[in-house]
Amino acid sequence: MRFPRLLILVLLCLGMVHPARGEPNTCLTCHSELNEATPAGRAYLQWKNTVHDKAGVTCDRCHGGDSSSGTLDGAHRSIRAASDPASPTYAGNIPELCGNCHGAQLEEFARSKHYRILQVRDSILDSPTCITCHGAMNTAILSPANIADACRRCHGREKTGPSSIPEEAQATLSLIYYARNTINWSREFVLLARREGRPTAAAEERLQEAISRFQASKAKWHSFDFREILRLVDGAYESAREAKRLAEDANERLKERTSLDIPPLDR
Ligand code: HEC
Ligand code: HEC
Ligand code: HEC
Ligand code: HEC
Ligand code: HEC
Repeated sequence: MRFPRLLILVLLCLGMVHPARGEPNTCLTCHSELNEATPAGRAYLQWKNTVHDKAGVTCDRCHGGDSSSGTLDGAHRSIRAASDPASPTYAGNIPELCGNCHGAQLEEFARSKHYRILQVRDSILDSPTCITCHGAMNTAILSPANIADACRRCHGREKTGPSSIPEEAQATLSLIYYARNTINWSREFVLLARREGRPTAAAEERLQEAISRFQASKAKWHSFDFREILRLVDGAYESAREAKRLAEDANERLKERTSLDIPPLDR
């Protein structure tokens, strides 16, 4: 299934529009008062201070309801339980719910076997949705330190048989992080050269290329196609190395000052 790019752009823009500030959002005013020991009170605490909180992605953006009504019945009128297939928070609908604002991730996720399994009601609980890895309310992001365990919840268990997926996932995510560090490092070299008034146009062009390849590799992650992800990571990494080399060429003194070199990608 392919998502038209224009549609994604429109949805992205819609998602980025913050609700009017100033008017109280009754989901928040009431839920913040609820007992923390109840699911409804705990949900508020999980959401509070997350990236979504700061970006104005309030409860109603995902659950629906009327955030201007101060009564439970009024505010909840159109809210459905997550177990109801008509609810936006039903497992099979979650990729589209999150994808309203995270179109690049949904586009890649929709290519995966995980997504195809979610389309079949009987197997819906066998496959991860966005919230299996990110949490429903807390926008957590897995790192190389905890990614393998997240995959092992299903891969390499008795039911699925031996699998190298958890280790491959960890290695791939580590290389994404490595490419990011390389880009940051190269950026410092380019900035140094620029500060000394050297011509850096060529280096900066390569740096931009590295950044866009890096971003593409991060989005591609959600296809879980490791080979394709690594192809993009390699590209990002090579562009970053080239940017550093060009910055050094533009600035001989920089070269003398450091013998540090970025080691080649090793695997
Ligand atoms: C006047 C208080 C009040 C307001 C306003 C309110 N809630 Fe709730 N909400 C509760 C209480 C109490 C519960 C737990 C008991 C229940 O489910 O009826 C709850 C439960 C929920 C649940 C879990 C429902 C389930 O089926 O398990 C969701 C989701 C939810 N609220 C979302 C919202 C959203 C979104 C809004 C704003 C549009 C909102 N709430 C406004 C008090 C409120
Ligand atoms: C980014 C989307 C998103 C936002 C924002 C969000 N939720 Fe949720 N919430 C979900 C999803 C998805 C689930 C279903 C979790 C599951 O299936 O385990 C859920 C589950 C819940 C539950 C558990 C009961 C149920 O319906 O399964 C409660 C209670 C709840 N949310 C309340 C809130 C409140 C209150 C806020 C705001 C403070 C909020 N949520 C903000 C997506 C969101
Ligand atoms: C109404 C729009 C909207 C919806 C719906 C939404 N998000 Fe977000 N999300 C955002 C915005 C805005 C940000 C802030 C960063 C950005 O601009 O991407 C964000 C950030 C994130 C981040 C990154 C956190 C970080 O530290 O960088 C994750 C992960 C995330 N969302 C997961 C989800 C998941 C999972 C769902 C569905 C349950 C979801 N989002 C639904 C708008 C949304
Ligand atoms: C099997 C685990 C898994 C699933 C399922 C998953 N993600 Fe992710 N997601 C990750 C990991 C790991 C990262 C960090 C690597 C990266 O930045 O791409 C991430 C990163 C993100 C980010 C942050 C990207 C950034 O720029 O920092 C967003 C937003 C996001 N995912 C949204 C989603 C959405 C939406 C879905 C469902 C359509 C989803 N994810 C499904 C594991 C998952
Ligand atoms: C909730 C369970 C669950 C979790 C968690 C999970 N997966 Fe999966 N995954 C599945 C199922 C089920 C399949 C389909 C298995 C099959 O058909 O052999 C699958 C298939 C895959 C495939 C495709 C294999 C193929 O034959 O095409 C890849 C790659 C994959 N998962 C990667 C991951 C990664 C990486 C993680 C951790 C970040 C992860 N999965 C977490 C359930 C899960």
